[in-house]
Amino acid sequence: MTVTRPETYKYDQVSRYINELIEKGDLKPGDKAPSLRKLSKQLGVSIATITQSYVNLEDQGILTAKPQSGFYVNALVNQINDIGKSAATPGQARRVRFGELFEEVFRNANNPRIVPFGTSNPSMDFMPVKSLTRATRSIISRYPQRSMDYLFPPGDRKLREQIAQQYAQNYTRVTADDIIITSGATEALSISLRTVAKRGDIIAVESPTYFAVLRMIEQMGMLAVEIDTDPVTGLNLDALEEAFDTMDIKAVMASPNTSNPLGCQMPEERKRELVNLLAERDIPLIEDDVYGSVYFGDKPPRPAKSYDLNNIVLSCSSFSKTLAPGHRVGWVIAGRYHKKFLQYKQAWSSATSSINQLALAEFLSSGQYDRHLVRLRVAMREQVERGRFMIAKNFPEGTRISHPHGGNVLWVEMPKGCDSIDIFNRALEHNIAITPGILFSATRRFRNHLRINCGSPWNESTETALKTLGKIVCGCRGG
Ligand SMILES: Cc1ncc(COP(=O)(O)O)c(C=O)c1O
Repeated sequence: MTVTRPETYKYDQVSRYINELIEKGDLKPGDKAPSLRKLSKQLGVSIATITQSYVNLEDQGILTAKPQSGFYVNALVNQINDIGKSAATPGQARRVRFGELFEEVFRNANNPRIVPFGTSNPSMDFMPVKSLTRATRSIISRYPQRSMDYLFPPGDRKLREQIAQQYAQNYTRVTADDIIITSGATEALSISLRTVAKRGDIIAVESPTYFAVLRMIEQMGMLAVEIDTDPVTGLNLDALEEAFDTMDIKAVMASPNTSNPLGCQMPEERKRELVNLLAERDIPLIEDDVYGSVYFGDKPPRPAKSYDLNNIVLSCSSFSKTLAPGHRVGWVIAGRYHKKFLQYKQAWSSATSSINQLALAEFLSSGQYDRHLVRLRVAMREQVERGRFMIAKNFPEGTRISHPHGGNVLWVEMPKGCDSIDIFNRALEHNIAITPGILFSATRRFRNHLRINCGSPWNESTETALKTLGKIVCGCRGG
């Protein structure tokens, strides 16, 4: 029997193959890419698919077409400087103080005139809005009363079953009974934090970390200790152990699968090590897995939850990066904290929107979600590659750029002397939003960093905005 592979898969296979040749050094800048005919034979895909893939690699800045001659590897490809490693000694536990900056960043998030490099979700242009709307209409007309009524925690059973099935794809044994539906990952993370810690407690976080985590710690009167995070392999376990030996840490909050902003991914063995290290000390891990399904490799990464034999992991996720952030539907698998979490959820926020839960259950059970995820992963990888290329081309010499394993954001280290707050303010004058690096740490150590969202389609407007941003950054150091 011959298995027909979907077109997206074949076309992605070609891009991956060329990227791998470049990464291994088998194809160097200036080299000619394999001819269409040769590659078509070798990979068993049509010439049209190879052409489409090459044109896309050209858009991403990886290949350049030369008339009558073929496709060549772009000269800039190996000159993009990746983000460097940082020192591994944990700092002190600190209070977080953001002041107004956090609100300032969010103030512009919904302004349609602003180019949204400051948010961190893929644009709705990449989402199956029509099919999701159809699923929502169908639910309302079939179950009008149920759609309008409360759907109390732990939430809709069918949705929880669908989510559990998603976990089966990455070797994680979870049942519907283990899952509690929340209003987005934000609620899952914040209730998890309250469930395992209280005011004055010390929480270990990645550095740099997703700034809302620091905001939660700030608002709950807890202290953050920042653990260095490798741009490729994630949380530094030696540094974490050192912190455990010197401080009374009550919980760890981390994203072992695709962190925000670095886009790094802990190798599977290190995730297991992390969970074991925590289990030995009976310290809970609050896992933020919102980007777990937006990976760039050929195999789905496993959540830390899948190594959790002692039930110490509270794994949080949502549909915000994959489907519809406005639906505000997320979940937690809270392990041994399940009952306490449920009580807190009931006390503090009661039910999550019924229509949205039912519509998502309908959409997932139709099989459309899995097909959509395949397309989304390819699209985000291309978006990010192209973003890297354009930043390398337009930002000053000495700029370093992350090389994400998933997600849709880039972490950019500008030359010393560039102040991200200054750049944030100047960019806003041009209707461009970015996220200043200073928000990703309580220690202000990322003053010369920016996070840039590549989740909006590259077109004239976004490309011009990126060039303008490049000029602003060049100007900041008098370049
Ligand atoms: C790393 C990370 N975690 C959690 C969230 C929050 O997700 P939600 O919109 O589902 O609350 C975000 C959203 O930006 C995020 O980037």
